[in-house]
Amino acid sequence: MREVLTLYDAHGLGLRVAVDDTLPDIAGDAVKLRQVIHNLVRNAADAVAGVSLPRVHVSLERADGARVALRVSDNGAGFPREFLGRAPEPYMTTKARGTGLGLSIVRKIVEEHGGAMHLENLATGGARVSVLLPPGAAAPAPRRAVPAASEQTT
Ligand SMILES: Nc1ncnc2c1ncn2[C@@H]1O[C@H](COP(=O)(O)OP(=O)(O)OP(=O)(O)O)[C@@H](O)[C@H]1O
Ligand SMILES: [Mg+2]
Repeated sequence: MREVLTLYDAHGLGLRVAVDDTLPDIAGDAVKLRQVIHNLVRNAADAVAGVSLPRVHVSLERADGARVALRVSDNGAGFPREFLGRAPEPYMTTKARGTGLGLSIVRKIVEEHGGAMHLENLATGGARVSVLLPPGAAAPAPRRAVPAASEQTT
């Protein structure tokens, strides 16, 4: 997670990344968790396109209990009302070339990891997506009765 966030430096988004280095590790499927970040940052980037002082903030911080919160906020126009307070509907998009699948995919991956996703609009304008993940949340890993030789530790 920490690594992935550093990949999104700059790009004229006013991108700011804050990571609490004392967080417990999240166990999970790195490829899928990377896609979560990617989809959310892309949405934020789309949302601030055309804003005069674009700001996209990504943070990884301690949430309630032992959970870890990934938050992506921006100063775009915010979510259309119908997106708030419920699960994202696949194919609901306001973009000419959007699939409307980004958030549904995020939600699915987050739930596979035992987490939850919340969408909200900020009082100051803009949108914020919070993804809460339990520490040590394990994505369903391929299960074998006997560990493969390469997985055995000494
Ligand atoms: N940060 C955001 N600010 C405002 N609206 C947003 C934001 N993120 C998502 N949305 C709204 O939610 C809709 C669905 O987002 P989703 O990521 O599922 O699909 P998409 O972004 O439209 O398409 P794609 O992900 O394929 O580019 C968007 O079309 C947009 O209306
Ligand atoms: Mg999207």
